[in-house]
Amino acid sequence: MADGKHRGQHFVAVIAALVLLLLCAQRCASLGEVTRQDAAQDAAVATPEHVGGLERGLNFTCDGQHAVEYPVVINLAFGKSGTSSLQRTLSLMGFGALHWKVPDALFRSLVATGNSHLLLDRWETSVEDRRMRRPGKTTQFLGHLVLNMVDLNQSLSTLEMLHPKGGRYRAFTEISCAEWVDPNTSMCVLPQVSHVSGLARCNPQAKFVLTKRDFDSHIDSMVRWRDMATRFSQCVGIEHPGEDFNQSLMHWMQDAYVNAKFILKQYGLSLLELDVASDPLSKLVWHLFPDGRLPPDVMSVLKRSNNRFPHENHNDGHLFEDARQRDREREKNAAARQSEARRRIKK
Ligand SMILES: *[C@@H]1O[C@H](CO)[C@@H](O)[C@H](O)[C@H]1NC(C)=O
Ligand SMILES: *[C@@H]1O[C@H](CO)[C@@H](O)[C@H](O)[C@H]1NC(C)=O
Ligand SMILES: *[C@@H]1O[C@H](CO)[C@@H](O)[C@H](O)[C@H]1NC(C)=O
Ligand SMILES: *[C@@H]1O[C@H](CO)[C@@H](O)[C@H](O)[C@H]1NC(C)=O
Repeated sequence: MADGKHRGQHFVAVIAALVLLLLCAQRCASLGEVTRQDAAQDAAVATPEHVGGLERGLNFTCDGQHAVEYPVVINLAFGKSGTSSLQRTLSLMGFGALHWKVPDALFRSLVATGNSHLLLDRWETSVEDRRMRRPGKTTQFLGHLVLNMVDLNQSLSTLEMLHPKGGRYRAFTEISCAEWVDPNTSMCVLPQVSHVSGLARCNPQAKFVLTKRDFDSHIDSMVRWRDMATRFSQCVGIEHPGEDFNQSLMHWMQDAYVNAKFILKQYGLSLLELDVASDPLSKLVWHLFPDGRLPPDVMSVLKRSNNRFPHENHNDGHLFEDARQRDREREKNAAARQSEARRRIKK
């Protein structure tokens, strides 16, 4: 039994190493050929959990008495796939979604609590070029923080204790980052594809999500969004501009997703693929709260959103105003608690 588990871990480590190789080596065609076929088959299969959830429709219960815990949510997708919509939605629901950047408040908390090592720059792990090493530098890219935590076997749920205003940091909606070093070199930190097994090992209770849209429009959007596609292609060794650039980037991304899904499966975790433009919001909610019991804030967003992912610029302004009001109240309560604590210490 223990032996089998060990072998399993070994296997997962080998797969993780393969993914890393994919990212760092400058070629990925052969493995790509194998997994692409799986991708086509895999995508059509919904897990029993989701089918069950959707069949149960909107039969959620709001549990005001016994506070329902917010799970940690980790989105493995790259930008321009709906990550911002996911971030907005989860923030409205009270998850305190972290998106691409470590917020100033969390940065300061990490430093103040002696955790600045978690903010150390990790670019050097993704390039061989030693010019790019920036040892001892701190960064505000979320990717580095997540990678440092995985390496130290720390659960992402521990960040919550560092929230200065008593709020939450329960969701990680866009983790990947890429930066130019010079006009010909960019560097990436992509723990959500390179360290999936570490993420699963450290966060076995987390809910994994993959925001997805049809690949053509995703690539189109990446290519059009400043130079995002160029930066990623630099990191993974796809020639740009090249004749097959769009195809190559798409295949690389599909492979990364299939591998991530495969690794999560080894840990008994499922990956929810989510199209925020067409999927009902309840699909996400069932994944996050499989027993149907919801925290009041989640229930309230679900009820008032017409089962769609809310958009700030549509008719969902009230949802956002509610969320801002909640933040203000939480801050007021936290301030009151602090001044009460100070008063007691003085006595
Ligand atoms: C869900 O609610 C509907 C009514 O809205 C009801 O007809 C149905 O039986 C419920 N399903 C379950 C599984 O509770
Ligand atoms: C984290 O866990 C892995 C696997 O259990 C282990 O090999 C590694 O040494 C651990 N790292 C630290 C820093 O504890
Ligand atoms: C970038 O590549 C071009 C063409 O290969 C070369 O002429 C240029 O010097 C390079 N720039 C840097 C900063 O390395
Ligand atoms: C790749 O995608 C971009 C953005 O959609 C498009 O402008 C370009 O024509 C595409 N290239 C090829 C070879 O399809």
